[in-house]
Amino acid sequence: MSPTSRPLTLDLTGLTSLALDGEGPTPATIAALAPAAAAAVDTIAARRAAGEIGFFELPDDRAGARACLDYARELPADVDTMVVLGIGGSSLGPRALYSALARPLDPLRPRAPGMPRRLFFPDNSDPVTMKAILEVCDPARTVWNVVTKSGGTAETAAQLLVVADHLDRTLGPTRARDHVVATTDPKAGALRATATARGWRTFDLPPSVGGRFSVLTPVGLLPAAVAGLDVMGLLDGARAMRDRCLGRDLATNPALLLASLLHHHHLERGRPMVVLMAYVDALFDTADWFRQLWAESLGKERATDGRVVNVGPTPIAARGATDQHSQLQLYVEGPRDKVVIMLTARQREIEVRIPDTDLAHSRAEYDYLAGRGMGELLDAELRGTIGSLARRQRPVGTIALDRVDAPSLGALIMLLELATAYAGPLYGVDPFDQPGVEEAKRLAYAALGRDGYAQLATDLPPIVGEGDYVL
Ligand code: PA5
Repeated sequence: MSPTSRPLTLDLTGLTSLALDGEGPTPATIAALAPAAAAAVDTIAARRAAGEIGFFELPDDRAGARACLDYARELPADVDTMVVLGIGGSSLGPRALYSALARPLDPLRPRAPGMPRRLFFPDNSDPVTMKAILEVCDPARTVWNVVTKSGGTAETAAQLLVVADHLDRTLGPTRARDHVVATTDPKAGALRATATARGWRTFDLPPSVGGRFSVLTPVGLLPAAVAGLDVMGLLDGARAMRDRCLGRDLATNPALLLASLLHHHHLERGRPMVVLMAYVDALFDTADWFRQLWAESLGKERATDGRVVNVGPTPIAARGATDQHSQLQLYVEGPRDKVVIMLTARQREIEVRIPDTDLAHSRAEYDYLAGRGMGELLDAELRGTIGSLARRQRPVGTIALDRVDAPSLGALIMLLELATAYAGPLYGVDPFDQPGVEEAKRLAYAALGRDGYAQLATDLPPIVGEGDYVL
């Protein structure tokens, strides 16, 4: 297959000595990374075979995807909105799918019969957002999708309690039942028990799939189906990418090469920062989803020779060309501590032509734009940014989707999930746990006086304290 006909092409030449004179690994250095890379594949493959890592199998679960599509098809026609109540991995993935594949600004468009349903992602427990969502969404036309793997995350529990009460008061308990759907562990947790007690429709989140790896479960696929997105296309793209990324050879496994080069730049060349810079607005939320995936999977405490070692790279989501006018100065002339990966699409579905008018020709600052496309401008900005980074020996690579469609997005998601999985053993950490997140959850329970957590509250610092340095 030629690179141009692939749903996704990964170009990492700019991370190597071929582009970075003395600042990047030579072919011999990359060859020396091969044994550790192959061992990382073996480690992850063994855990997959043991049933510990379920995200590999998700692209094959057509029945699960069909259940999501059936639910969407059977929703009453007058339901025009779904609100996803969840946080972290239970929200960022579905939001990335919707941002990439739905019509731009979809929630703002007036609904009309036959139009796909709109989605909202409050994500946080910010009261201002929550109040606004309740104001904007007609309870009779909205279905509330509660998503939590553990079932008891405080932000999601708070959202659920507010919404359940709102629905009981506005629709009454009997009608309210049809306006809630829950995605959670098949057996465990508070949400499973509540959904059973209340008779809510439920979808299962497989226990072997962690929150941030769950976008291709009903966590992502149910909202995608409700919004009319191409669910099967996502799985097709993900499956093809998974099958490209199973081998032990760096030269043919894109996820392994990405993980190995980013790990090398971090540990051998002092570049812990990974900037994923989307030059397509629709892909910015995918960069934001990756920010969680890379950070939460790889930022860990590790015990080495009886000592605690803190490891982990720092992911940054950026938007081109916007961040050329905000961040790029730092990336180009600041510390040499970053690798920049551009995220773009070879083909833009929509082009807005800049009119070839007298006004356009009236000034040198406009003239060169006359008759060109706004997408063409963005591509030129991208080339300029790559050029300015490359001129200063800053590592820069590109992930180019063929176009922003479901198969390409599925491929991108799987590429980044597999790169994260393989990076875990390279960093010597388990990429599938999140003890730091769990600790913050427990401390928040303590701050709210939850039974069983009171002891933790004793040394919680105030938000604003007292003392000589409080001004
Ligand atoms: O990836 C993770 O495990 C976390 O970010 C979780 O998704 C997040 O904390 C929400 O957890 P839960 O889905 O259990 O509510």
